[in-house]
Amino acid sequence: MSYSINEVNKAWLDAVWIKLEAKMSAECDRIGDRIPYIPENGVYEEDKAETDIYWWTNGFWPGMLWQMYHSTHDEKYKTAAEGVELRLDKALEGYDGLHHDVGFMWLHSAVANYRLTGNEKAKTRGLHAANLLAGRYNPRGKFIRAWNNDCIGWTIVDCMMNIPLLYWASDLTHDPRFTYIAKDHADTTLAQTVRPDGSCNHIVILNPENGEFVEAPGGQGYASGSSWSRGQAWALYGFALSYTHTKEERYLATAKKIAHYFIANVATTDYVPLVDFRAPAEPVIWDTTAGVCAACGLLEIAESVGELEKPLYENAAISILKATERRFCNWNVNEDSIVANGTGSYHGRNGDFAKPIIYGDYFFIEAILRLRGQALLIW
Ligand code: GLY
Repeated sequence: MSYSINEVNKAWLDAVWIKLEAKMSAECDRIGDRIPYIPENGVYEEDKAETDIYWWTNGFWPGMLWQMYHSTHDEKYKTAAEGVELRLDKALEGYDGLHHDVGFMWLHSAVANYRLTGNEKAKTRGLHAANLLAGRYNPRGKFIRAWNNDCIGWTIVDCMMNIPLLYWASDLTHDPRFTYIAKDHADTTLAQTVRPDGSCNHIVILNPENGEFVEAPGGQGYASGSSWSRGQAWALYGFALSYTHTKEERYLATAKKIAHYFIANVATTDYVPLVDFRAPAEPVIWDTTAGVCAACGLLEIAESVGELEKPLYENAAISILKATERRFCNWNVNEDSIVANGTGSYHGRNGDFAKPIIYGDYFFIEAILRLRGQALLIW
């Protein structure tokens, strides 16, 4: 797919790519097969493989490495990504700590590896993860349950980004059951999570016996009824991907509706999203990760619509990426992480508040590579 990039934007893209390649090369040398999450003072000190092998973001670093390997063919990225994949086996074998986010963990590691190299062991890991995700399906409520313990009827919008693992498993095995589950989950999300104006709930609790609506807590957003921007991005990109995999028009229509809502909101803050689009004006809290994820989703939509519609989505994605790069990217090769000012949740004042977070870097890289026509299909 090629986008209609004008000369000015092409020059910007080329300049960003040079900085990105230098930065990723230095980071790969420093980090290797450790699993980074959030740096402290420009250094990834924590190795999630040591502190929390089940953590949902543990696939993003290998995803960045596979994207770099795909675009540069430099073996050092492949070696580091293979090392992370091996370390993630502890989570796959441990099972008890796992959750709905196995898509984020193994699409970016094992499945990316399999897609690029045909590695059979990687394929097995991906199918194992897909079966774990399918095993979370509630056939009465027609949804994939989120989290563990008491969250029996819980669905979350984030899971729209995990179900591509199921589409992949069906494509590979020719067994449609994985896709049936993915589509049921997408349809339930469409019915229960997406609001008429294109905004979305984060969490929706359903009756696990029959799928009836129980309540919609605020989750990582400001409050119930608010609009957590990363959740909007998960829905935007997730429905666009469900369209790509199924060609069901209702998923594209939904992705476009959410995109229009997202674009209208982000345009009011110079194309960097606030952490919640329906929160009080103060304090101002950014979440750059929502913007860069949405940019990837907008580019996915651009690939699915007619020529006359494309510019709307492409231009919005480029505006988000340029604003993020101008205001928040750190290109110092001696410091870890690229995209600053990500925020885990509105009320969280823990380690993930106004910080660079690994998934922000992942989506920024994917978006830049998409625009350069060099992205690996991870999803
Ligand atoms: N999937 C969890 C989050 O977006 O923070």
